[in-house]
Amino acid sequence: MRSLFGDHLLQRLQEDVEGTLHQRLFRCLREAIVARVLPPKTRLPASRDLAKEMQVSRNTVLSAYEQLQAEGYVEARIGQGTWVVEQLPETFLTTAYGKTAPIPATVPRKNLLSQRGSRVMGYAAASPHQWGAFVPGAPDVTEFPHHLFSRIQSRLSKDPDVSRLIYSNAGGCPELRAALADYLRVARSVNCDADQIIITEGIHQAIDLVSRALTDIGDHVWIEDPAYWGMRNILRVNGVHLHPLPVDKEGILPQENPNQPPKLIFVTPSHQYPLGSHLSLARRKTLLALARKHQSWIVEDDYDSEFRFSGQPYPALQGLEADAPVIYMGTFSKTIYPALRIGYLVVPKSLFSSLRTLAAELYRGGHLIEQKALAEFIQKGHYAAHIRRMRLLYGKRRQFLMDLIRRYLGDAFVHEYDEASGLHLVLKLPTGCDDVAIATNALAHGVKVRPLSQYYMHSHAHAQRGLLLGFACVNEKDMMMAFGALLQCLKEAGIQPQPAVH
Ligand SMILES: Cc1ncc(COP(=O)(O)O)c(C=O)c1O
Repeated sequence: MRSLFGDHLLQRLQEDVEGTLHQRLFRCLREAIVARVLPPKTRLPASRDLAKEMQVSRNTVLSAYEQLQAEGYVEARIGQGTWVVEQLPETFLTTAYGKTAPIPATVPRKNLLSQRGSRVMGYAAASPHQWGAFVPGAPDVTEFPHHLFSRIQSRLSKDPDVSRLIYSNAGGCPELRAALADYLRVARSVNCDADQIIITEGIHQAIDLVSRALTDIGDHVWIEDPAYWGMRNILRVNGVHLHPLPVDKEGILPQENPNQPPKLIFVTPSHQYPLGSHLSLARRKTLLALARKHQSWIVEDDYDSEFRFSGQPYPALQGLEADAPVIYMGTFSKTIYPALRIGYLVVPKSLFSSLRTLAAELYRGGHLIEQKALAEFIQKGHYAAHIRRMRLLYGKRRQFLMDLIRRYLGDAFVHEYDEASGLHLVLKLPTGCDDVAIATNALAHGVKVRPLSQYYMHSHAHAQRGLLLGFACVNEKDMMMAFGALLQCLKEAGIQPQPAVH
């Protein structure tokens, strides 16, 4: 039978569904401590007992306990278990609950994070599993022509130009900015010159720069729901007020509130992340009109649109109208490899000088030899050739996975927004099923999938259930093995395959 505390925790856990299971458990336990359901100097249940009561793995409980300890809410006493500390960390008490507590002189400060730091810790979602079946969004990094790229890089490194060894405040390597402008105009219909491009350390840094430069704490920002968790966390740490807007087959559904016009509107028009639809022409025009009316900036995240497997890639929203109020972001993480950490912003001319200056102030800028090597790699045609080759390879892998799904599970498991593009697809699961538990079980069997419900900002009933399956970095043989294991996990969760009868 469950204890009273177990019942309380389970109820809270069901209400709070954002983030991984251990983050949710951490937040519920922290709340219980702050609300004194677990008063100071109380012993926490043994991790094994709590895991059994909550029906979660012991590792989930241990991770939540570790985070509570790191943030100063509990202390572990060797051989005696985990105890709520006598004096709680003051940051959480003074702000999140609206009460003021005296700052106790005895609180050990070394483990205490700022309120926004600990908030993001509570939502941290970057996985340690970044390679193998079915990591979403991972390109096949082994297929990149490393010999070509490293040849260019080592030539440039032998007798490097001084300008590539010192801080840059030019917005990145000029040759890369020029090569990108040529590429983006042709391949993505982006309206731009080199003097609108700022090189960043990936889209993550681009989001940070844009949100810090163009919003103040408490400003309203629209985001898609579901959306990329990384973007949400950067915006959270920068203190904006997030408004999650629903997404359907035509992309984001704007919902105007004249009292709270958005400063920024984050969208993935070419390939909605993670559901897969593209923003229809009518919605593109509505969104542009809305942004002009409210003097908002649309921030277009064009993270993987090079990979469309039937027909041409959709053109960027940025190029649809002259002087569109759009800031465009792109990355080499999907086309080359994520650890390269090179991405770019295309900003309207009116913003270029201030954003470039702020980028230099905040991040200084570097990696100029890699950037120059990349410029040569693009100019010599290697980049376009690599993308063409990967498009064919990923297209085949995607088809293979799609065939497995249709054959062994049935058409009902293919998400209706799927548009044959990108590096992952969404395996649709029945409403109400626990996709988090299925993903956890799959991981225990060596299969890395992400639950769709965790891409939603809140725990609504409308959060669709499913699994994100990355296919780009998995060969057909590994895909077969992993799919077999996943099928077993789905059956264990009581999900009935409905394959078509031929
Ligand atoms: C939608 C989306 N935007 C941005 C990124 C991150 O890009 P970068 O590696 O350039 O920071 C990702 C990473 O998976 C993503 O899925």
